[in-house]
Amino acid sequence: MSQKKPFYITTPIYYPSDKLHIGHSYTTVACDALARFKRMQGREVLLLTGTDEHGQKIQDKAASKGVTPKEYVDEIVEGKGGVKDLWKLMNISYDRFIRTTDEYHVKACQRIFETLYNKGDIYKSVYKGHYCKPCETFWTESQLKEGCCPDCGGAVYEAEEEAYFFKTSKYADRLLALYEENPQFIQPESRKNEMISFIKQGLQDTCVSRTTVPWGIPVPFDPKHTMYVWVDALSNYITALGYENDAYNDYDTFWPADIHMVGKEILRFHTILWPAMLMAMEQPLPHRVFGHGWLLLDGGKMSKSKGNVVDPLILCQRYSVDAIRYFLLREIPFGNDGNFSNEALINRINSDLANDLGNLLSRTVAMVEKYFGGSLTNQYAGGAFDAELEEVLGAMPGRVTACMDDLLIPQALQEIFKSIQRANKYIDETAPWALAKDEANRERLAGVLYHLCESLRLAACMLTPFLPETAKKMAQQLGLAEEEITFEQLSFGARSQYTVHKGEALFPRIDAAKELEELVAAQAAMKQQAAPAPEAKPAETTGAPLEHLPEIAFDDFCKVEMRVAKVLGCETIPESKKLLKLTLFDGERERTIMSGIAKWYKPEDLIGRHVGIVANLAARPMLKGKYISEGMVMAADLPDGGASVMFFPQEVAPGSAIH
Ligand code: ME8
Ligand code: MG
Repeated sequence: MSQKKPFYITTPIYYPSDKLHIGHSYTTVACDALARFKRMQGREVLLLTGTDEHGQKIQDKAASKGVTPKEYVDEIVEGKGGVKDLWKLMNISYDRFIRTTDEYHVKACQRIFETLYNKGDIYKSVYKGHYCKPCETFWTESQLKEGCCPDCGGAVYEAEEEAYFFKTSKYADRLLALYEENPQFIQPESRKNEMISFIKQGLQDTCVSRTTVPWGIPVPFDPKHTMYVWVDALSNYITALGYENDAYNDYDTFWPADIHMVGKEILRFHTILWPAMLMAMEQPLPHRVFGHGWLLLDGGKMSKSKGNVVDPLILCQRYSVDAIRYFLLREIPFGNDGNFSNEALINRINSDLANDLGNLLSRTVAMVEKYFGGSLTNQYAGGAFDAELEEVLGAMPGRVTACMDDLLIPQALQEIFKSIQRANKYIDETAPWALAKDEANRERLAGVLYHLCESLRLAACMLTPFLPETAKKMAQQLGLAEEEITFEQLSFGARSQYTVHKGEALFPRIDAAKELEELVAAQAAMKQQAAPAPEAKPAETTGAPLEHLPEIAFDDFCKVEMRVAKVLGCETIPESKKLLKLTLFDGERERTIMSGIAKWYKPEDLIGRHVGIVANLAARPMLKGKYISEGMVMAADLPDGGASVMFFPQEVAPGSAIH
């Protein structure tokens, strides 16, 4: 048998700017189920996930919280309740986690950019267009919808600047040929046509650098430019394997990817820009890109910005991780949008997990204990209804596998549950409690219960990739070792003896009406708590007695002119370890301010940021008149003698007065 190439599956890398919501978990849970499924089939698998940490959005967000972008992302990715914690909670079996701020990724992206430039696929020009900040996307006039971003509907602003461009247009024909020759490349099929017509409308070259977004990977040969986040982000799929870097070494083993799983709104980047970049780099192309639909809430895309997020932590705590995984994987038609509602969730848990699955297990285990003291040996002798059940069980694994090959995850679960429902029906048909009344039926009774145990064993095997914890609990109650719920013994009768142990109900039945009330209250309470900003060191007081100044009149206060200014440039100076020389735009003109914050801030932490300054402070010569400081950058003292600069979000224009 030929050894198959290891299976490489990727999730999108997430923006760490918001707390992830249950919609985000959807892509990752689906990838996890698929990865686990492939592993159980004996494939070597690499599941990659990570975070997309550069760009204007993150820069702004960090500024509004008064921390550096790196501090901000570190907290959200690595901190308590952060991205990695969420994946742990959701039981995501990722093999590798890439952060686009990882040194090796940054270096590798620079090499990629340079290679494309040297080949002539990246060139310098002037960019004129419309930029949508939340989507980090440039749009042409004709792409705008009623003057707004066609993706998020938000405001765009006109941008004109020197920029590098990638020759996407050059690859239009090759992209169309790629789709034609590889029908599986874009899935589902319906989305392929959108991409084809997008290309046929005329593909523009892609603007791939900015001079106004400092929080990005510098273009190596022209460092006042930073790379467009999508070039940086898409490259993660290969840099994480060691492409153009030494941090990893398995590009040849895993690339090309078997599946890039992505949400439909980012399918275009993955099926146009990404393959075009790979073509330009002369690298193999991924096998398929699957664009899934959205989890909707009240008919709209669930997102933090709409304020209608459902917190995965609350849901997992209330219902268990597996219940949430099941809902996501079962309820949303894969490839289409699906609606989230508390009611739908509770219904799913009650009908499928508590009733069908949970009851089958608890009834079976209870009967084996009651009638056989917990131990049962195979003695089935071909009673009525046995063949029908055996047939369903026999076909089930193959059907599930076929669904998974086509990424039909809800259908795969449906197949498993069909066999569970068939087993429940078998209980009604055979009525073991009636058989138990007559000693003469003992063998038949054992045969019936054996059939039920085998049904549960097969269900546990097949459910493992989807509901790993539940499958383990089932195995425990059935007296199976964890290693015994595998894909290796999927035929009926493969196990001949059972010693069961009654355990807790897998999924306690939920009182829907009562629960819905409580949930509404729990979510309202969460909303009110409005997540506090991640703080490096939460401090309640300064810890020292406060030194007060004499009271002043309001008019005196009004004499101090405090304004917002944008840091255009910042440098260290050879004469002092304490001072930084800042060039600021105060809304009117450029000015220089010398600030004693060099110990706590690097120039790159400040460039591009909006800070508070005292603007009408008399200019002071500093360092023997070598420098003149025209004002003061406002900062708070930290207990360790450090300083925390007063930052403002990018929306606050330079020149704005501070009161
Ligand atoms: O797009 N339902 O990151 P992201 C289903 N950094 N899926 C949803 C969803 C919802 N309500 N909301 C979000 C990015 N998602 C880029 C990716 S890849 C090189 C760079 C999905 O954090 C969304 O469709 O905005 C996407 O696939 C993923 O969550 C990450 O979204
Ligand atoms: Mg997005």
